[in-house]
Amino acid sequence: MKEHRLLAQPFTFKNKGMIKNRLVKSAMSEGMATKDHLPTKEILRLYEAWARGGTGLIITGNVMINDKALGEPGNIVLADDDHIDLFKRWAKAGTSNDTHLWMQVNHPGKQVLKGVSAEAVAPSAVPFPPKLQRFFPEARALEEEEIEQTIREFAGTAALAERAGFTGVQIHAAHGYLISQFLSPRHNQRTDKWGGSLENRFRFLSEIYQAIRSKTGGEFFVGVKINSSDFMKAGFSEEDSRFVIKELERLGVDLIEISGGTYEKAVLLGKDVKPSTLKREAYFLEYAEQLKRETTIPIVLTGGFRTRTTMEEALQAGATDFIGIARPSAVNPAFANDLLSGKEKTLTIKPIKTGLPFIDNKGLLEITWYSQQLTRIGKGKPVKPGFPPILSLLLTLLQNGREVFQKRRV
Ligand SMILES: Cc1cc2nc3c(=O)[nH]c(=O)nc-3n(C[C@H](O)[C@H](O)[C@H](O)COP(=O)(O)O)c2cc1C
Repeated sequence: MKEHRLLAQPFTFKNKGMIKNRLVKSAMSEGMATKDHLPTKEILRLYEAWARGGTGLIITGNVMINDKALGEPGNIVLADDDHIDLFKRWAKAGTSNDTHLWMQVNHPGKQVLKGVSAEAVAPSAVPFPPKLQRFFPEARALEEEEIEQTIREFAGTAALAERAGFTGVQIHAAHGYLISQFLSPRHNQRTDKWGGSLENRFRFLSEIYQAIRSKTGGEFFVGVKINSSDFMKAGFSEEDSRFVIKELERLGVDLIEISGGTYEKAVLLGKDVKPSTLKREAYFLEYAEQLKRETTIPIVLTGGFRTRTTMEEALQAGATDFIGIARPSAVNPAFANDLLSGKEKTLTIKPIKTGLPFIDNKGLLEITWYSQQLTRIGKGKPVKPGFPPILSLLLTLLQNGREVFQKRRV
């Protein structure tokens, strides 16, 4: 019996198509859009590389639903069909080699880097802890009509993605962005129908999902990325998460991706994680195992997977149906072919550390270091796995400084 037998197996969805193997390239914000937030030729080259690299499903970096709601510099926005041809070319590049390509659709809510958007909005005006206030601006609470409008915008973006040739969308309900803020009792302190009980906090996600379904065809896939927990006091708990996933299963969501944490607590990137969990690789394995005992919804488990043996074991144990891979795919876009052919048994990535704890304990540098590798692939340059994190930090400060300056001049 070959060790990578399960990873290579196709997965067939009920009443739908199939995905050719169990490897998923998880979302990574590329930070490579034009100044008008459109896909570039570098994006096309990057997605061609991932599709050629053999993964069954590629989930794009988060695409924003309107240009007033940007999370980071270089975000792509899809809000109208003015440049649909560019999105068609992107879809064509990412669906080559029989690959599924799902667009991750997102609204950052208050998790907006300073200088990137004119204002930050959230379910309620709950500030970030003082340490993070230098990165994120103060947010104001959304009006009821704005909530309804945002739901329509999510559906509009999904419909455009389908028209462009993406095979599905993934709703980003994890990592502390707007939907995750609505789900969390810590961030959502509304007293209307959008806040309070868990049923009310779930309403925003539920309505977004149903609006997307009503605007897209039966063959189109709709998935959701969600936290197992946000690991914050009085935040979104594992129990809340299980309730939401069971509701999503009832509504007919095709695929759930499990992650966890936020910028405040970057567990998604292995920060604040016990050494024993890091060693065991998959950060949210125990949660997924329990969830699988209670639901039948297909799952992608993401965060920390590095060795083929651990991936196979998770599939064998029935803890997950797919293995999500993000950072290793930024230094090796052919990670799937390499694992499936047996060329690689371990996806090696080095810890990104500057030696400055206040930077290393947060996820921001990790994000920018890997984005810089994505840019290299997009430009057709070789990746630089040994690129010193401190140089990456300087590069980021230089680029973001300029970005902030440009925004302020407008
Ligand atoms: C550069 C970078 C950008 C990311 N952007 C996104 C994103 O746009 N949407 C998202 O859901 N997760 C994003 N993530 C998180 C990853 O999808 C994934 O959950 C996390 O990196 C853990 O998986 P890994 O251990 O395989 O890297 C990003 C991670 C990195 C490193």
